Amino acid sequence: MKRAIYPGSFDPITFGHLDIITRASKLCDELIVGVLNNKQKNPLFSIDERVSMIKELTDNLDNVHVECFEGLLVDFAKKKNAQVIIRGLRAVTDFENEIQLAQSNKVQYPDLETLFMTTSLQYSYLSSTVAKEFASYGGDISLFVPPQVIPLIEAKIKNKEK
Ligand code: PNS
Repeated sequence: MKRAIYPGSFDPITFGHLDIITRASKLCDELIVGVLNNKQKNPLFSIDERVSMIKELTDNLDNVHVECFEGLLVDFAKKKNAQVIIRGLRAVTDFENEIQLAQSNKVQYPDLETLFMTTSLQYSYLSSTVAKEFASYGGDISLFVPPQVIPLIEAKIKNKEK
């Protein structure tokens, strides 16, 4: 049984994340989307909101499960008995952080492999931060996030402005 974890902040989930989830789910028996509960990052969405959005959007993928985690990714991977971490690589700018993350995790937990998946071309510029930035100026984010997520971002941003 090959169990992989796709970890991230997902604040909020974008089309780029969904693309990686869909493609990665075909490469393993079970894919756990691991949503980091890190209040220091001051996320726009609560952990419950992020988990619930991803659950709704991945409902059609039978071998995908969504869970939150706190603390170290290697500890979460050990607890879940996962052998593989999946990360998406967009541009070369991602590489420096990602190689450090992968190698430090490898030192801590040698049995854990990190697999990088190249982001599909149409999402290579996309991040949650880009989606939030456009939304904060009233921009069109329909090419960035699924339709269900748009009113949720807009409501959050309106609330912040109050
Ligand atoms: O979507 P993100 O914010 O790029 O995801 C980063 C994430 C969650 C994969 C990374 O920050 C992480 O694994 N955090 C958990 C804490 C940890 O294990 N840190 C050690 C690695 S340097």
